[in-house]
Amino acid sequence: MSDHSKAGLTKRLKNRFWSLFPHHAIAPFRFELRLLKVRRRASLVRRRYRGARGLLVNLGAGPHGRPGWVNVDISRERGVNCVYDLRRDLPFEDGAVAGLFCEHVLEHLHRSEEAPRFLRECFRVLEPGGVFRVIVPDGGRYLRAYSQEGWAALDALRGTDAEHRDPWSDGRYRTKMELVNEIFRQNGEHQYAYDAETLIADLREAGFDRVIEQSFGVGQDARLLLDRPSRAAESLYVEALKTAARPNFSTT
Ligand SMILES: C[S@@+](CC[C@H](N)C(=O)[O-])C[C@H]1O[C@@H](n2cnc3c(N)ncnc32)[C@H](O)[C@@H]1O
Repeated sequence: MSDHSKAGLTKRLKNRFWSLFPHHAIAPFRFELRLLKVRRRASLVRRRYRGARGLLVNLGAGPHGRPGWVNVDISRERGVNCVYDLRRDLPFEDGAVAGLFCEHVLEHLHRSEEAPRFLRECFRVLEPGGVFRVIVPDGGRYLRAYSQEGWAALDALRGTDAEHRDPWSDGRYRTKMELVNEIFRQNGEHQYAYDAETLIADLREAGFDRVIEQSFGVGQDARLLLDRPSRAAESLYVEALKTAARPNFSTT
């Protein structure tokens, strides 16, 4: 077979494959395949932190890792010094972490299969008296803005311009519902939209007995105030404190 007809056959097979398995169905599978290498190295990462205490950990840091912190992410971004899948048990010993920071990451974890385990792990690794600062897009605030007349409230949250162009994605929204879906779904990357009540309930369920809503730049541990100003308008800020007391597993 000539190179030309081989290339034609490959193209036809590819087209056939993509018609059987649409991109939106395959994308999560590809993501998991890409992660196999990261997951294989998990035990090495755990070994690195054996015996470590008093750590400050940025979970899902992306390119915003800080010196002196353990900056965890599945992507090997600049500043990431711990490449690890947060859906596995965290690579730190019980009570080894002095403070946890997690900005715009929790919504990427599956609400029932992944997020509860992740939150329980955060509770486990924190030292008594340690704070977990969690920041997510504020689903409640977006719904309130959506139900107001006109675009002003939504544009103010997202930072979209007069033509509703999104500074984060380069997309342009024709309708308010398109914008809300971008926040809640982000092309399938976002698994859940939280409001304060739900996030607080989930953190209590994970074992934290003192959970409060905070605001941008305000918190119980000054070291954890890494909040990015560009996310302030649209974000929900919650802090969960691990007291020395026995965890309270009530859901109220
Ligand atoms: C929207 S970005 C937020 C990055 C940074 N925290 C910020 O505020 O700009 C979400 C980050 O979570 C990371 N992430 C998503 N799922 C993850 C997982 N299972 N394990 C580790 N990191 C994950 C992504 O790679 C990405 O860097």
